Amino acid sequence: MSATDYLSELFSLDGRVAVVTGGSSGIGRAMAVALARAGASVVVVARREAELDDTVREIAAHGGRAARVSADLGTRDGVRAAAEEAVRAFGEPDILVNSAGVNLRPPMGELGEDVWDATLSVNLEAPFLLGQRFGPGMAERGYGRIIHVTSQQAHRAFVQSGAYGVSKGALESLARSQAEAWSPYGVTCNTLVPGFVMTPLNERLSSDPEKVAALAARTLTGRNGIAEDFAGAVVFLASRASAYVTGQSVFVDGGFSVH
Ligand SMILES: NC(=O)c1ccc[n+]([C@@H]2O[C@H](COP(=O)([O-])OP(=O)(O)OC[C@H]3O[C@@H](n4cnc5c(N)ncnc54)[C@H](OP(=O)(O)O)[C@@H]3O)[C@@H](O)[C@H]2O)c1
Repeated sequence: MSATDYLSELFSLDGRVAVVTGGSSGIGRAMAVALARAGASVVVVARREAELDDTVREIAAHGGRAARVSADLGTRDGVRAAAEEAVRAFGEPDILVNSAGVNLRPPMGELGEDVWDATLSVNLEAPFLLGQRFGPGMAERGYGRIIHVTSQQAHRAFVQSGAYGVSKGALESLARSQAEAWSPYGVTCNTLVPGFVMTPLNERLSSDPEKVAALAARTLTGRNGIAEDFAGAVVFLASRASAYVTGQSVFVDGGFSVH
């Protein structure tokens, strides 16, 4: 067997269908492009249409197949509608990546119910509802990959973790619950844990050179993350190669968490 055939046996996503929430920006977009370049047909889900179109164009430019769904994952009805529309593009997904997230970080004492609700609905409830919608079908078909994106704040409190940290901690628990339920049927459920990644999500921090340098100094690699750092990890977790990896938190953080 040639090296190319061997790599393909391990990692090819040919014939797979992936749904990537937050696939129009930052880490989600880089992961959507990576999954498509590895062979999957990819549906990207987010609110803003121009950014979604742009991502679909980028995937097409690589020769990949992509569709987009504009939906608000901040409401239960929005999530349900998004799931049904996503399925209309390429059929039921084999891979679900939950990257859509909001990062609202008022000081704890000023954290109101509005921020709590907005954070938990997008960051935690949407991944739960999409898992309920797609997980059982994946289990029935004998193959599935659910991949969440959490945060350092799932493990430690800093820079006003607030409701954000709560949502990400719970998301790691959700991955374990899903892994317990569906791993016996070929569906693995894991989380990717970023460090500090230069994306629109944290523009406030990334536009401050001193803070950027201080965060880079907290890694072992000496630099902050870029969205493309997630390409290999997401393809691995979406592929046959990761069949025995489930319920895990995979840190893609340049060593931030162990420094
Ligand atoms: N960047 C970091 O340093 C970092 C660190 C730790 C964890 N993370 C996590 O990584 C994930 C991706 O973050 P990112 O840095 O790539 O952020 P980003 O570039 O801001 O992307 C966020 C994505 O989520 C979508 N989204 C937000 N609210 C939504 C809603 N109500 N309905 C549908 N889509 C929604 C956005 O599209 P629309 O706004 O158009 O809807 C966008 O596609 C998030 O879960 C974040 O918590 C990021």
